[in-house]
Amino acid sequence: MILSIESSCDETGAAVVRKNGEGVEVVASVKASSEKLQIKYGGIVPEVAAREQIKVILPVIERVMNKAGGGKEEIESVAVTVGPGLMGSLLIGVETSKALSWGWGKKLLAVNHMKAHVLANWIKQENGWKPPTLPALALVVSGGHTDLVLIKSLDEWEKVGGTRDDAAGECFDKAARALGLSYPGGPEIEKQADKVSESRFKLPRPLIHDDSLEMSFSGLKTAVVRKVEEVGKMSDKLRAELAWEVNEAIVDVLVEKTRRAVVKFTPESILLAGGVAANKRLRSKLGKLAAEWGLDFRMPDFEYCTDNAAMIGAAAVMRGVKADQLRLRPQVNLGTADQV
Ligand code: KG4
Ligand code: ZN
Repeated sequence: MILSIESSCDETGAAVVRKNGEGVEVVASVKASSEKLQIKYGGIVPEVAAREQIKVILPVIERVMNKAGGGKEEIESVAVTVGPGLMGSLLIGVETSKALSWGWGKKLLAVNHMKAHVLANWIKQENGWKPPTLPALALVVSGGHTDLVLIKSLDEWEKVGGTRDDAAGECFDKAARALGLSYPGGPEIEKQADKVSESRFKLPRPLIHDDSLEMSFSGLKTAVVRKVEEVGKMSDKLRAELAWEVNEAIVDVLVEKTRRAVVKFTPESILLAGGVAANKRLRSKLGKLAAEWGLDFRMPDFEYCTDNAAMIGAAAVMRGVKADQLRLRPQVNLGTADQV
């Protein structure tokens, strides 16, 4: 079994996972979030997140070990997120894992957080589950990343497209803030959007007709801010309609760029990953696209879309990279296709 630890952003998670057939079984997973603090500050304040994480990391690990039953004897290795993420937050997970693996005499495995989002699709779901078919095209959408990645084998990842500026999750978060909604913005926008089924607003879908696999979300964010200013006093109905259109605009761009990537690279499957993968409209539209092309479509269960330690464990099982217990350092800017 592997003990995995995630602390790249505002969440602090620990999980115990093991290989089961061709996939990964989550034995136990625990998460502590500083979301309440983020709501108070209207977003993530790195120092606030890190200070909270120092307090909760050991209790979180203790809780997951108790939940998993069995003792440290059953743990073969400790896996940890090395990046990308916030320096202070990453350091807490990395240093704790170094100390723990050293003290317990276990191997230490380094995990790329973005790859782990994708490898959450290897966590077994229903009976008869089979691993996704490769080559796969992954749409990786989180608060800091929006990437299209071609996965030829678990060791060959190539970034083939993505945003030139803001990430899709960031656009959700900023649009939510402009609408007076709380953080994180994605689920809040979705809650508002669910109240209506159309909108009187029309927002741009940046680069949607552009043949490249490049995306851009900063203009959309600005367009939302401008619309909010134009409207002035925002009624509940107008807020819901604007949120609906924001949701549609972001999802339309993501789905269209994925479609273009499918045409270009003819993968066997489409994998959805990252916090924004929890978006219902995106899940259903991408599912439809995959069905039209006869492709295998995978998305993690909701609990494994936003940051969690089970996906770090899944990545460690599927492609753990052995790390030096004394020298491992956080890699703040690690990309989805980077080697770790
Ligand atoms: O992967 P994640 O938990 O953290 C990062 O690695 O960044 O992603 C967080 C992002 C936030 O921007 C949040 O607003 C977005 O995922 N998100 C959603 C939904 N749930 C979370 N966006 C759209 N719809 C959702 N249901
Ligand atoms: Zn993440």
